[in-house]
Amino acid sequence: MIETIKEHLAEVEKFASTSKEEIEAFRIKYLGKKGLLNSFFAEFKNVPNDQKKEFGQVINELKNSATDKVNVLKEALESQVEEGKYGDLTRPGEPMEIGARHPISIVKNRIIDIFSRIGFNVSEGPEIEDDWHNFTALNLPEYHPARDMQDTFFIQTDPDILLRTHTSSVQVRYMESHKPPIRTISPGRVYRNEAISARSHCFFHQVEGLYVDKNVSFADLKQTLQYFTSEMFGKSKIRLRPSYFPFTEPSAEVDVYWGLETETDYRMTKGTGWLEIMGCGMVDPNVLKNCGIDPEVYSGFAFGMGIDRIALLLHQISDIRLLSENDVRFLEQFKSAL
Ligand code: DAH
Repeated sequence: MIETIKEHLAEVEKFASTSKEEIEAFRIKYLGKKGLLNSFFAEFKNVPNDQKKEFGQVINELKNSATDKVNVLKEALESQVEEGKYGDLTRPGEPMEIGARHPISIVKNRIIDIFSRIGFNVSEGPEIEDDWHNFTALNLPEYHPARDMQDTFFIQTDPDILLRTHTSSVQVRYMESHKPPIRTISPGRVYRNEAISARSHCFFHQVEGLYVDKNVSFADLKQTLQYFTSEMFGKSKIRLRPSYFPFTEPSAEVDVYWGLETETDYRMTKGTGWLEIMGCGMVDPNVLKNCGIDPEVYSGFAFGMGIDRIALLLHQISDIRLLSENDVRFLEQFKSAL
C-alpha cells in the first residue's frame, strides 16, 4: 500500500499542464471528495499499527504535494491569462498617425496670419443671428430687394432669427461694441438656402474684413488688397470692378490676375487670366450711423471673401462637397500643407 502511495507521489510531482480542464481533473482525482486521498485516509484504520506512522506520513506528503501542485499550476494559468489581456508588453508600440488640418482651416489660418501682420485682430460672432445684425443694420431694411441676393434660412418660429448669410453681421457687432480705430477680420461659417452641387453648398465659410478710422480712403483699401493677394497667392496685379452691395458705397468686386501660363490657369480663369476673389467697398455712412459711429468723423472700408472658394482654387479641388464630407482619404492629402 505504501508503495502505491509513493508511486502516486512521484506521479504528482511529475504532473504539469497548462490546460484548465486537465488541472481540474487532476485536482478531482487526488483531492476531490471521492478522490484517491480520501480513499487512502479511509484505509488508515486497516493499516497495521506498526505501519501507521509511515502510512500517515506518506499520505500527508501526497496531500500536500497534490495541493501545492494544483495551486502552482492554477496561478501560472491565471498569470498567463493576465498577460494575454495586455498583449505582449515587450512589443514595440503602434506608430501614431499624424493628423492633417482641414483645407478650410489651412486657408483660414493663412488669411488670419497675413492680416495680423498689418495690425488686424480676429473677431467672431454667432451663426444664429438676428435680422438687425444680418440685414437691417447693414442697410438692408425689410422689403429691400437686395435681400433676395442671399437666400436665407429662417428659424421657423421666429422670423427675426436666422442663420447668418454672411460674416458682415460681425462688422455690425464689432462696431457696436468697439470705438475706432478698428481693424478686424472675422472668419466664420455662413448659411444659404441653395441647391447643393459641386459648386455650391448650403453652408460655407467667409472672412470679413473691416477697417474704420479717420481718413480711411479707397486707396487704403486697394493697397491692403494688393498686399493680401501678393502674400496669399504671390500675385499683386488686381483690378476692382464696380459692383453693388447695400452696405458699401462705392462697392467693387476684386479680381486677381492669375495669368495664363498653364492649362490649369486657362481652366481656372475661363480663359481670361482673371479670378474673382472677393467683394469690397467703403463702408456706407448709413451702416456707420446704425452702429453708433459718426460718419462725419470716421470712414472705413470692408471686404468679404469665401474661404471655400479659395481652398478649392489653391488645392485644385473640383467639388465643394468634399470639404464637408470628412472623408479621411481626402483629408489625409493635406498632411504636407501648412
Ligand atoms: N457680404 C458679402 C457676401 O456675402 C461679401 C462682402 C462684400 C462683404 C462687400 C463686405 C463687402 O464687407 O464690403 O457676398
